[in-house]
Amino acid sequence: MSNWLKLVVVGLVAAMLSFEASAQQKIGLGTVPTAEEIARWDIDVRPDGYGLPPGSGNAYDGEEIFIDKCSACHGEFGEGAGRWPVLVGGHDTLASEDPVKTIGSYWPYTSTIYDYIYRAMPFGEAQTLTPDETYAIVAYLLYSNDIIDDDSMEINADNLAKIEMPNKDGFIPDDREVVSGERCMRDCKDSVTVASRARILDVTPDQ
Ligand code: HEC
Repeated sequence: MSNWLKLVVVGLVAAMLSFEASAQQKIGLGTVPTAEEIARWDIDVRPDGYGLPPGSGNAYDGEEIFIDKCSACHGEFGEGAGRWPVLVGGHDTLASEDPVKTIGSYWPYTSTIYDYIYRAMPFGEAQTLTPDETYAIVAYLLYSNDIIDDDSMEINADNLAKIEMPNKDGFIPDDREVVSGERCMRDCKDSVTVASRARILDVTPDQ
């Protein structure tokens, strides 16, 4: 082996060894999360109720909390203040010309109401509610939507998911010709063209 080739080989081996050594070295960033830290992220609630925390609340108590923390935007009865979302009513309107989609008329599972409110509301102050407050507010919203009829009923992890929502069967696979056919997830067309843009199409209804 010529001298210069020896030099190259030695250099390469040295580089590999130092790469190995640095790969084994810890970067020293971050810490292992504690069980308590993981618990704070682990707040999702499934439709079968899995993930609901201990606690309870009823509609009677929920009304007061709702008026205090939610009514500024959603109205005292969930009717929506100004242009903030309406949370109550809209039953039997989904198939009409002017469907009113509320958590009562549209959402298929009670668990989502808990999950959403606990996770995201009050708007701007997310995750400040306790589980008890959230159960009480959920009870109030179910009561206001005529889904439960007893304002002293204690809502908790055992019974919330058993309460059926009016639109629970409203979500079905779309079997129209235009959307049926083979599902394709990758390389479905040779090339893609942008036909139009929502802004230009003006999809926002006038009324
Ligand atoms: C400052 C105004 C404000 C306050 C206060 C507020 N919300 Fe909301 N809420 C919103 C906005 C805005 C949305 C829509 C958010 C989005 O679509 O991303 C929303 C959405 C919701 C929805 C989902 C509605 C739907 O059909 O998609 C629920 C349920 C809800 N809020 C419940 C509550 C509850 C319960 C409280 C009180 C604890 C509360 N909100 C307080 C502004 C507010």
